[in-house]
Amino acid sequence: MRRPFIAGNWKMNLDRNSSVALATNIMEKLKAFGAAQDVEVAVCPASCYLDAVATAVDRSILGVGAQNMYHEPKGAFTGELSAAMLLDVGCQYVILGHSERRHILGETDAAVNQKLKAALAAGLVPIVCVGETLPQREAGKTLEVIRTQFSGSLAGLTGEQMATVVIAYEPVWAIGTGKTASPEQAEEVHLDLRKIMADCYNNQIAESVRIQYGGSVKPSNAADLLGQPNIDGALVGGASLEADSFMGIVDKAVG
Ligand code: PGA
Repeated sequence: MRRPFIAGNWKMNLDRNSSVALATNIMEKLKAFGAAQDVEVAVCPASCYLDAVATAVDRSILGVGAQNMYHEPKGAFTGELSAAMLLDVGCQYVILGHSERRHILGETDAAVNQKLKAALAAGLVPIVCVGETLPQREAGKTLEVIRTQFSGSLAGLTGEQMATVVIAYEPVWAIGTGKTASPEQAEEVHLDLRKIMADCYNNQIAESVRIQYGGSVKPSNAADLLGQPNIDGALVGGASLEADSFMGIVDKAVG
Protein backbone atom coordinates (compact mmCIF):
# COMPACT_ATOMS: atom_id res chain seq x y z
CA MET A 1 0.00 0.00 0.00
CA ARG A 2 1.47 3.34 -1.03
CA ARG A 3 0.81 6.07 1.50
CA PRO A 4 -0.46 9.20 -0.29
CA PHE A 5 1.95 12.12 -0.11
CA ILE A 6 0.99 15.75 -0.64
CA ALA A 7 3.82 18.30 -0.74
CA GLY A 8 3.56 22.06 -1.06
CA ASN A 9 6.25 23.74 -3.14
CA TRP A 10 6.23 27.36 -2.02
CA LYS A 11 8.91 28.33 -4.57
CA MET A 12 10.27 31.88 -4.11
CA ASN A 13 7.21 33.10 -2.22
CA LEU A 14 6.27 34.25 1.29
CA ASP A 15 8.39 36.04 3.89
CA ARG A 16 9.60 34.66 7.19
CA ASN A 17 6.50 35.45 9.23
CA SER A 18 4.04 34.24 6.63
CA SER A 19 6.04 31.04 6.04
CA VAL A 20 5.96 30.19 9.75
CA ALA A 21 2.30 31.21 10.05
CA LEU A 22 1.22 29.15 7.04
CA ALA A 23 3.14 26.06 8.17
CA THR A 24 1.73 26.36 11.69
CA ASN A 25 -1.77 26.81 10.34
CA ILE A 26 -1.46 23.73 8.12
CA MET A 27 -0.10 21.69 11.03
CA GLU A 28 -3.00 22.72 13.28
CA LYS A 29 -5.47 21.83 10.57
CA LEU A 30 -3.79 18.44 10.10
CA LYS A 31 -4.07 17.77 13.82
CA ALA A 32 -7.75 18.69 13.85
CA PHE A 33 -8.28 16.71 10.69
CA GLY A 34 -6.90 13.62 12.42
CA ALA A 35 -5.66 12.36 9.07
CA ALA A 36 -1.95 12.63 9.66
CA GLN A 37 -1.67 8.86 9.75
CA ASP A 38 -3.40 8.31 6.42
CA VAL A 39 -1.54 10.87 4.37
CA GLU A 40 1.99 12.22 4.45
CA VAL A 41 2.12 16.00 4.15
CA ALA A 42 5.10 18.31 3.75
CA VAL A 43 5.84 21.91 2.88
CA CYS A 44 8.91 23.19 1.04
CA PRO A 45 9.59 26.82 1.97
CA ALA A 46 12.34 29.04 0.61
CA SER A 47 15.67 27.77 1.93
CA CYS A 48 16.31 30.83 4.13
CA TYR A 49 13.15 30.01 6.13
CA LEU A 50 13.63 26.24 6.43
CA ASP A 51 15.10 26.54 9.90
CA ALA A 52 12.28 28.76 11.17
CA VAL A 53 9.57 26.55 9.66
CA ALA A 54 11.14 23.30 10.85
CA THR A 55 11.44 24.73 14.36
CA ALA A 56 7.83 25.92 14.39
CA VAL A 57 6.15 22.66 13.38
CA ASP A 58 5.98 19.12 14.70
CA ARG A 59 7.71 17.42 11.80
CA SER A 60 6.08 14.10 12.58
CA ILE A 61 2.80 15.75 11.54
CA LEU A 62 3.97 18.19 8.88
CA GLY A 63 7.23 17.37 7.11
CA VAL A 64 9.65 19.99 5.84
CA GLY A 65 11.51 19.89 2.55
CA ALA A 66 13.95 21.99 0.57
CA GLN A 67 13.46 22.97 -3.06
CA ASN A 68 17.01 22.21 -4.16
CA MET A 69 20.47 21.28 -2.91
CA TYR A 70 24.02 20.79 -4.19
CA HIS A 71 25.68 17.41 -4.48
CA GLU A 72 29.03 18.22 -2.89
CA PRO A 73 29.29 17.75 0.89
CA LYS A 74 31.14 21.02 1.53
CA GLY A 75 33.67 23.42 0.11
CA ALA A 76 34.03 26.37 -2.24
CA PHE A 77 30.57 26.33 -3.87
CA THR A 78 29.34 29.86 -3.31
CA GLY A 79 25.62 30.08 -2.76
CA GLU A 80 24.98 26.37 -2.55
CA LEU A 81 23.64 24.20 0.27
CA SER A 82 24.66 20.62 1.04
CA ALA A 83 22.43 17.72 2.04
CA ALA A 84 23.96 17.79 5.53
CA MET A 85 23.07 21.47 5.88
CA LEU A 86 19.48 20.73 4.93
CA LEU A 87 19.30 17.94 7.49
CA ASP A 88 20.86 20.23 10.06
CA VAL A 89 18.06 22.78 9.69
CA GLY A 90 15.39 20.11 9.96
CA CYS A 91 14.63 19.02 6.41
CA GLN A 92 13.35 15.53 5.75
CA TYR A 93 12.75 15.96 2.01
CA VAL A 94 14.33 17.69 -0.97
CA ILE A 95 12.77 18.48 -4.35
CA LEU A 96 15.23 17.73 -7.16
CA GLY A 97 15.09 18.55 -10.86
CA HIS A 98 12.00 20.75 -10.70
CA SER A 99 11.17 21.96 -14.19
CA GLU A 100 11.88 25.57 -13.20
CA ARG A 101 15.39 24.50 -12.26
CA ARG A 102 15.74 22.46 -15.42
CA HIS A 103 14.37 25.10 -17.78
CA ILE A 104 15.21 28.45 -16.16
CA LEU A 105 18.44 27.49 -14.41
CA GLY A 106 19.74 24.93 -16.88
CA GLU A 107 19.86 21.91 -14.57
CA THR A 108 20.63 18.71 -16.47
CA ASP A 109 19.68 15.10 -15.80
CA ALA A 110 23.31 14.45 -14.90
CA ALA A 111 23.27 17.22 -12.27
CA VAL A 112 19.97 15.94 -10.87
CA ASN A 113 21.47 12.47 -10.65
CA GLN A 114 24.48 13.71 -8.66
CA LYS A 115 22.18 15.57 -6.28
CA LEU A 116 19.93 12.54 -5.94
CA LYS A 117 22.79 10.28 -4.93
CA ALA A 118 24.03 12.81 -2.37
CA ALA A 119 20.52 13.29 -0.96
CA LEU A 120 20.01 9.53 -0.60
CA ALA A 121 23.42 9.04 0.99
CA ALA A 122 22.54 11.71 3.55
CA GLY A 123 19.14 10.21 4.35
CA LEU A 124 16.91 12.85 2.79
CA VAL A 125 13.80 11.70 0.94
CA PRO A 126 14.17 13.05 -2.59
CA ILE A 127 11.22 14.15 -4.71
CA VAL A 128 12.54 13.86 -8.26
CA CYS A 129 10.60 15.80 -10.88
CA VAL A 130 10.14 14.78 -14.50
CA GLY A 131 7.86 16.21 -17.17
CA GLU A 132 7.52 17.13 -20.80
CA THR A 133 7.07 20.54 -22.42
CA LEU A 134 4.06 21.36 -24.58
CA PRO A 135 5.94 21.02 -27.89
CA GLN A 136 7.23 17.64 -26.74
CA ARG A 137 3.69 16.49 -25.87
CA GLU A 138 2.31 17.82 -29.15
CA ALA A 139 5.03 15.97 -31.03
CA GLY A 140 3.93 12.73 -29.33
CA LYS A 141 7.21 12.52 -27.44
CA THR A 142 5.91 12.56 -23.85
CA LEU A 143 6.79 9.00 -22.91
CA GLU A 144 10.16 9.20 -24.65
CA VAL A 145 11.03 12.39 -22.73
CA ILE A 146 9.96 10.84 -19.44
CA ARG A 147 12.03 7.72 -20.14
CA THR A 148 15.10 9.82 -20.97
CA GLN A 149 14.69 11.92 -17.83
CA PHE A 150 14.19 8.80 -15.74
CA SER A 151 17.25 7.04 -17.09
CA GLY A 152 19.39 10.18 -16.70
CA SER A 153 18.12 11.63 -13.42
CA LEU A 154 17.61 8.32 -11.63
CA ALA A 155 20.58 6.42 -13.03
CA GLY A 156 22.65 4.04 -10.93
CA LEU A 157 20.43 3.60 -7.89
CA THR A 158 20.18 0.31 -6.05
CA GLY A 159 16.71 -1.17 -5.74
CA GLU A 160 16.74 -0.31 -2.06
CA GLN A 161 17.49 3.34 -2.86
CA MET A 162 14.90 3.47 -5.62
CA ALA A 163 12.20 2.29 -3.23
CA THR A 164 12.73 5.36 -1.04
CA VAL A 165 12.53 7.91 -3.89
CA VAL A 166 9.38 9.88 -4.60
CA ILE A 167 8.85 10.79 -8.26
CA ALA A 168 6.79 13.82 -9.26
CA TYR A 169 5.36 13.83 -12.77
CA GLU A 170 4.91 17.48 -13.63
CA PRO A 171 4.08 18.33 -17.23
CA VAL A 172 5.82 21.66 -17.79
CA TRP A 173 2.81 23.06 -19.65
CA ALA A 174 0.60 22.48 -16.60
CA ILE A 175 2.80 24.21 -14.03
CA GLY A 176 1.41 27.52 -12.87
CA THR A 177 -0.74 27.79 -15.99
CA GLY A 178 -4.10 26.68 -14.65
CA LYS A 179 -4.04 23.91 -17.26
CA THR A 180 -4.02 20.48 -15.69
CA ALA A 181 -3.24 17.21 -17.37
CA SER A 182 -6.44 15.21 -17.54
CA PRO A 183 -6.52 12.33 -15.06
CA GLU A 184 -6.12 9.98 -18.04
CA GLN A 185 -3.11 11.86 -19.42
CA ALA A 186 -1.43 11.83 -16.02
CA GLU A 187 -2.30 8.20 -15.32
CA GLU A 188 -0.76 7.13 -18.64
CA VAL A 189 2.59 8.64 -17.66
CA HIS A 190 2.43 7.34 -14.09
CA LEU A 191 1.72 3.85 -15.37
CA ASP A 192 4.63 4.12 -17.79
CA LEU A 193 6.94 5.21 -14.97
CA ARG A 194 5.92 2.08 -13.09
CA LYS A 195 6.68 -0.04 -16.16
CA ILE A 196 10.11 1.58 -16.43
CA MET A 197 10.82 0.76 -12.79
CA ALA A 198 9.57 -2.81 -13.22
CA ASP A 199 11.96 -3.21 -16.16
CA CYS A 200 14.92 -1.61 -14.39
CA TYR A 201 14.27 -3.21 -10.99
CA ASN A 202 11.29 -5.45 -10.32
CA ASN A 203 7.53 -5.34 -9.79
CA GLN A 204 7.79 -5.01 -6.06
CA ILE A 205 9.89 -1.86 -6.29
CA ALA A 206 7.76 -0.48 -9.13
CA GLU A 207 4.68 -0.94 -6.98
CA SER A 208 6.20 0.60 -3.87
CA VAL A 209 7.50 3.91 -5.29
CA ARG A 210 5.17 6.85 -4.81
CA ILE A 211 4.52 8.99 -7.88
CA GLN A 212 3.04 12.43 -7.29
CA TYR A 213 1.34 14.46 -9.98
CA GLY A 214 2.06 18.18 -10.15
CA GLY A 215 0.78 21.01 -12.31
CA SER A 216 -2.11 23.28 -11.32
CA VAL A 217 -3.48 20.85 -8.74
CA LYS A 218 -6.28 22.48 -6.75
CA PRO A 219 -9.09 21.29 -4.50
CA SER A 220 -11.50 21.15 -7.45
CA ASN A 221 -9.40 18.78 -9.59
CA ALA A 222 -7.55 16.86 -6.87
CA ALA A 223 -10.12 14.11 -6.35
CA ASP A 224 -10.13 13.05 -10.01
CA LEU A 225 -6.34 13.07 -10.23
CA LEU A 226 -5.74 11.35 -6.90
CA GLY A 227 -8.43 8.81 -7.73
CA GLN A 228 -6.25 7.34 -10.49
CA PRO A 229 -4.69 4.04 -9.47
CA ASN A 230 -1.10 5.13 -10.10
CA ILE A 231 -1.28 8.70 -8.77
CA ASP A 232 -0.10 8.62 -5.19
CA GLY A 233 -0.15 12.26 -4.23
CA ALA A 234 0.51 15.75 -5.47
CA LEU A 235 3.27 18.32 -5.64
CA VAL A 236 1.38 21.57 -5.29
CA GLY A 237 2.63 25.05 -6.15
CA GLY A 238 0.13 27.92 -6.24
CA ALA A 239 -2.60 26.18 -4.24
CA SER A 240 -0.15 25.37 -1.44
CA LEU A 241 0.31 29.05 -0.56
CA GLU A 242 -2.97 29.17 1.30
CA ALA A 243 -3.92 26.75 4.11
CA ASP A 244 -7.52 26.14 3.05
CA SER A 245 -6.76 25.33 -0.58
CA PHE A 246 -3.80 23.14 0.41
CA MET A 247 -5.91 21.28 2.97
CA GLY A 248 -8.66 20.97 0.37
CA ILE A 249 -6.17 18.88 -1.63
CA VAL A 250 -4.93 16.91 1.39
CA ASP A 251 -8.55 16.09 2.13
CA LYS A 252 -8.95 14.47 -1.30
CA ALA A 253 -5.94 12.24 -0.68
CA VAL A 254 -7.58 10.57 2.28
CA GLY A 255 -9.88 7.63 1.66
P1 PGA B 1 1.54 24.72 -9.64
O1 PGA B 1 3.06 24.29 -9.43
O2 PGA B 1 0.72 23.88 -8.70
O3 PGA B 1 1.50 26.19 -9.28
O4 PGA B 1 1.19 24.47 -11.06
C1 PGA B 1 3.42 22.94 -9.25
C2 PGA B 1 4.91 22.81 -9.13
O5 PGA B 1 5.63 23.55 -9.80
O6 PGA B 1 5.41 21.97 -8.36
